[in-house]
Amino acid sequence: MPADRIPSKESAPDDRSSFMDSARRTTEVEPILTVHPKPGVAKPNPILTMDGLRRSFGGLTAVDIDHLEIERGIVTALIGPNGAGKTTLFNLITGFDRADRGRWEFNGQMVTSPSPDRLARRGMVRTFQLTKSLAKLSVLQNMLLGAPHQIGEQLWAAPFRPLWRNQEQANTERADELLEQFNLAHMRDELAGTLSGGQRKLLEMARALMSDPALVMLDEPMAGVNPALAQSLLGHITELALSGVTVVYIEHDMDVVSGISDWVVVLAQGQVIAEGGPWKVIHDEVVIDAYLGRRRAGTSS
Ligand SMILES: Nc1ncnc2c1ncn2[C@@H]1O[C@H](COP(=O)(O)OP(=O)(O)O)[C@@H](O)[C@H]1O
Ligand SMILES: [Mg+2]
Repeated sequence: MPADRIPSKESAPDDRSSFMDSARRTTEVEPILTVHPKPGVAKPNPILTMDGLRRSFGGLTAVDIDHLEIERGIVTALIGPNGAGKTTLFNLITGFDRADRGRWEFNGQMVTSPSPDRLARRGMVRTFQLTKSLAKLSVLQNMLLGAPHQIGEQLWAAPFRPLWRNQEQANTERADELLEQFNLAHMRDELAGTLSGGQRKLLEMARALMSDPALVMLDEPMAGVNPALAQSLLGHITELALSGVTVVYIEHDMDVVSGISDWVVVLAQGQVIAEGGPWKVIHDEVVIDAYLGRRRAGTSS
């Protein structure tokens, strides 16, 4: 984060001002505002709790988290300099990579054998920094891949063909609803490869919602998206939270972070170095130092 991207303190609203127009948001967000902003602090109602989570690549420790809780029903931003371990953390939690050690609990249950499919069925989905839409499939087909329980793919389900048809129809209806919501309805039958970068980000987010998740993890959803589409993506994130979905997203733009986050977690060199309300965190000396690459006092080389 270059220094000129840090929003000025003068224009800083109180952290409480975000989303106060919604009674439900107030109920969800109020409890987190009472939490003391320090790394690893316990939250009132966490949906995700991590302990001793570690992942190294050769001699490099990419993720080394003592304890971190993600509060349910709010928008949490995960920020940190390039290479801080943000994507690796997403990969571990969502079963796309294996931790060397550590445990995490999702929705009150320990995750014992993490696999992306199993976790998606339990309500945890993620998107990727580089979008993963399948260019040779239509937009609708991409959406249907995000649907839960693809009975039709399983041989033993053949006798239940009518059931499978009903399910397919329900999935298609849900996909059409989401495509409408994400302004992609007109692209429904086009190949995903013909979408712009920004539209692909929208498609990825819409597809993630096919399984009605409880927790959505978005890896740089705004990166490479033109300003108009970025605005629409931001709106979708806010709406997700309004509908009760917990959102964790990775973002570099501090205006975005301070605009739509209820809570911010800062990673540097794999560790949580700060967390708290957006304005407090963004103006935290330790955080600014980490972004500007100044070595913190007491940090070994
Ligand atoms: N598969 C991998 N093999 C080797 N090193 C990796 C791998 N994935 C990530 N890293 C390294 O781990 C560190 C954290 O990477 P990453 O999680 O992608 O950071 P961020 O998303 O915060 O920019 C970086 O130094 C990166 O080079
Ligand atoms: Mg990354």
